Amino acid sequence: MDANDVVDFYQNRYDESGRLTKANNQIEFLRTTDVLSRCLPPGRLRVLDVGGGAGVYAEWLAEQGHEVTLIDPVPRHVDAASKITPVNGSLAAKLGDARALDEPDDSTDVVLLLGPLYHLPERADRVAVWAEAERVCSTGGLIVAAVISRFASLHDMLIRDKLSEPGIVDIVASDLRDGQHRNPDNVEGLFTTAYFHHPDEIAGEARDAGVVLDRIIGVEGMAGFADEFQGRLDDESTRQDLLDLLRGVEEDRSIIGLSNHILAIANA
Ligand SMILES: C[S@@+](CC[C@H](N)C(=O)[O-])C[C@H]1O[C@@H](n2cnc3c(N)ncnc32)[C@H](O)[C@@H]1O
Repeated sequence: MDANDVVDFYQNRYDESGRLTKANNQIEFLRTTDVLSRCLPPGRLRVLDVGGGAGVYAEWLAEQGHEVTLIDPVPRHVDAASKITPVNGSLAAKLGDARALDEPDDSTDVVLLLGPLYHLPERADRVAVWAEAERVCSTGGLIVAAVISRFASLHDMLIRDKLSEPGIVDIVASDLRDGQHRNPDNVEGLFTTAYFHHPDEIAGEARDAGVVLDRIIGVEGMAGFADEFQGRLDDESTRQDLLDLLRGVEEDRSIIGLSNHILAIANA
C-alpha cells in the first residue's frame, strides 16, 4: 500500500472519531456489534483490535468487561483511543501495523481486523494480515475481519448523486474492474487508497494464510442506503425489528454483495 496516503488521510484530512455516530453510519455500528455479540465466546476476553481507529469498538468491548488492546498506524487514532477510560474492562492503545504485529504467538482470544484489509491494495499484504491474526490468536480463538464490497462506491456515488461529477466515473470504473480504489486528487467524500473485495475472493486470501473462514456476512444490506430510516433507530422496537430482519438474511449471497461492508468470521 502507499501507507503514507492512508496515514495522512486519517491523521490530517478525515476525522474517524465521528464516523460511527448516531448521525453517521449508525447501522454499520449496530449491525457489527450485533454480529460480534453473537460470535464472542463467553467470559472476560483478551481482544486485539487491529486497525481499531479512534476506538469505537474497543470502547464498546471494554465496557463489557474485556481487556482490549487497540493497534493502529495513525497517531491521532492512538491518541484518541488512549483517552478513553472505560468504566469496565480495560483499554490500551498503541501504534502498529497489521502486517507485522508486535505481539507474542497465541497471546489473545479475539482479533478484530475492522480496517486493515481494505486499506491494503496488495494481496500479499492482506494474506500477511490474516497470517498475523492467526499467529497471535490462541487456538480456537475468534478472528473477525471487515472488507468493503467491490460495489460500494458505485452505490454510494449513485445514492449521493455524484456519478456525473468530473472524474467520478473513472474512479468507480477502476473500483469495479479490479477493486483498486485511488483518490489521487483527494476529492472529499471519496475515501483514500483502498481495496474493495469481491465477496468470492475473501475466503481465498484467508485460506492462503492457513485460516479457514466459518462464514461471511453482509453488514448493512439496503439499510446502509436508507438515510431517512436512520432517524427511526432511536425507537427501540423499530431498531430491534430491523436488526432481526437483517440477521435473518445476513448470509444470503445477494445481501452480502449489496452491503457496503462484509464481515469474515473465522476460528484460529
Ligand atoms: C475506517 S477505519 C476503521 C476503524 C474501526 N476499526 C472501525 O471499524 O470503525 C480503518 C482503520 O484501519 C487502519 N489501518 C489502515 N491500514 C492499516 C494497517 N496496515 N495496519 C493496521 N491498521 C491499519 C486505519 O488507520 C484506520 O484506523
